[in-house]
Amino acid sequence: MSQMPLQNPQQFFSVVINHLDKSYDGIEVLKGINLEVPQGQILGIIGKSGAGKSTLLRCLNGLEQPSSGTITIHGKLFTGIKESDRRKIQQDIGNVFQNSNLLSRLTVLENVMFPLNLLKVNSKIAHSKALQMLHLVGLKGKEDAYPGQLSGGQCQRVAIARALISDASLLLCDEFTSALDIETSLEILELLRDLNKRLGISIILITHDMGVVREICDEVCVLDQGRIVEKNDITSILLHTQNTVTKSLIRNLINKDLPHHLQEILLQKPKTNCDILVRLFFSSQTAGEPIISSIVKKYDIPINILFGNLDHIRKTAFGSLTIKIPYNIQIINKIMNYLEKRGVSSEIVGYLPQDGEMAWNS
Ligand SMILES: Nc1ncnc2c1ncn2[C@@H]1O[C@H](COP(=O)(O)OP(=O)(O)O)[C@@H](O)[C@H]1O
Ligand SMILES: [Mg+2]
Repeated sequence: MSQMPLQNPQQFFSVVINHLDKSYDGIEVLKGINLEVPQGQILGIIGKSGAGKSTLLRCLNGLEQPSSGTITIHGKLFTGIKESDRRKIQQDIGNVFQNSNLLSRLTVLENVMFPLNLLKVNSKIAHSKALQMLHLVGLKGKEDAYPGQLSGGQCQRVAIARALISDASLLLCDEFTSALDIETSLEILELLRDLNKRLGISIILITHDMGVVREICDEVCVLDQGRIVEKNDITSILLHTQNTVTKSLIRNLINKDLPHHLQEILLQKPKTNCDILVRLFFSSQTAGEPIISSIVKKYDIPINILFGNLDHIRKTAFGSLTIKIPYNIQIINKIMNYLEKRGVSSEIVGYLPQDGEMAWNS
């Protein structure tokens, strides 16, 4: 039996971006962006402030037009087309932002129904659809409340229900959980993952926070100065990235483990008589190996283990261990090469003056 020919292979992707550039007044903000998001994927786009994340998202939701290049949404060309055609495709895209932008004079239910009213959908159908969406986001019983009576997390749930009510199959989130406390933010991310599974929607999540990305993203794309500098699955990014921009974003995540008193005296450059702090990353495969004792034997140096932790990236165990070694550049290079050969990623955290030892060893 012959296979059906693929009519349009791009339709298996929610989004395909080709050679996208965007300039404002001659200043290039996005440069040569190429990106494919398979249907059903949760993609995180991470980068520092000013990297171009929101601009990319505005190109994706049609609020901005790229200066050159193309965007295809579910196999349909989304750029360089008539306004009316673009609006049709936009119905398939839901947006949520840091501010939930709910209308304060409307009830929760009315807020969720709002996009369907604009589309002139029969009000009975809109009503029952809105109820269904509110249940889905965990807000059963809040239909008649007003946004002012809800918590920040509940407002974001309403915003999600509203974004998805016209059966959007692509959800774009810009710094969506930035204004929420950690616990609420985790609950909302959990909800997004649940909706992704239940409804099969693709999600593109933009954030400056690696902690957010780590929770739910299948793949991560690092944007720096308007370019994609890295794209990989989250485990590979956390364990094996060689990119300095990515490393600095991860450092924000992990440096929380470094005790405050050490952070205060940590040097960025070595000086005479100092120790070096090296952080090792273990994955499930390498976690059981006696790496530290092998290094002590092989290089005949004292190693102090400062602290370690075991964490999980989704279901994969992931550990880090921070060690202190007397600074000697030749030996450090040898150790780091040795670690790499054993499949353990490592990075230099910083340097500590040896005279500072009393302060933190006690
Ligand atoms: N409408 C605009 N006009 C001119 N410059 C802009 C505009 N929007 C964004 N920029 C510039 O583009 C760059 C990227 O901005 P943005 O996409 O908001 O970054 P991010 O969301 O990663 O913080 C910044 O330098 C910003 O000043
Ligand atoms: Mg932004």
